[in-house]
Amino acid sequence: MKYCTKTKYLKNLFITFEGIDRSGKSTQAQKLYDYLKKKKKKVILVREPGGTGISEKIRHILLDKTNRKMFSLTEFLLFSASRHQLTEEIIKPKLKAGYYVICDRYFDSSTAYQGYGGKINTKIIETINKIATKNLQPDISFLIDIDVKERQRRLILSGRGKDRMEAKDISYHQKVISGFRKIARTNKKRFKIIDGKKDKEDIHIEIKKIIKI
Ligand code: TYD
Repeated sequence: MKYCTKTKYLKNLFITFEGIDRSGKSTQAQKLYDYLKKKKKKVILVREPGGTGISEKIRHILLDKTNRKMFSLTEFLLFSASRHQLTEEIIKPKLKAGYYVICDRYFDSSTAYQGYGGKINTKIIETINKIATKNLQPDISFLIDIDVKERQRRLILSGRGKDRMEAKDISYHQKVISGFRKIARTNKKRFKIIDGKKDKEDIHIEIKKIIKI
């Protein structure tokens, strides 16, 4: 974590999972959480959008399929508002208290979805991301990578209804996937790209090896 105050400098505690829906990132976030819990570490797992009372309300607005009129900028600002609340209310206090914080999605999701997918100007995305997080950056981010065909396959297999974001078309999701790959490539120090088609237990082992806890 590049979170630095005058009195405190904490390291290697903030871990994020990124990727397209159906990539298996939430499963991996949960597995890592369970593993750290079993090792008696202080750890919390949160998700975006959500994770606080206020953020969960914002999540509901964002994912509600009946909100057809939502403008791209409204969408981005709502994700950012939810993120700010979660960061200030939960993530920062927990990091200060020495917890491992695992977050299922963080600002890279906005860059991929609202930036590369939704075409909000990257400079605006970057600026608002920084404002919403007050520059808090994860120490390590895992991109669980699958291609759009695999996403479609898993989507059909699950048979679950789609939320407002999932209901966007295939070309949108293709851009999001490419966006995530670009983000990971340009932030090599922070990102680890994991092949999401591998067996979930093998992925978990790979992640544990990287985390070294
Ligand atoms: P969620 O049900 O949490 O799904 P997932 O398992 O894919 O994380 O839904 C969150 C949706 O919101 C998901 O489609 C990705 C999208 N999203 C954005 O578009 N921008 C963001 O900044 C975040 C955090 C999520």
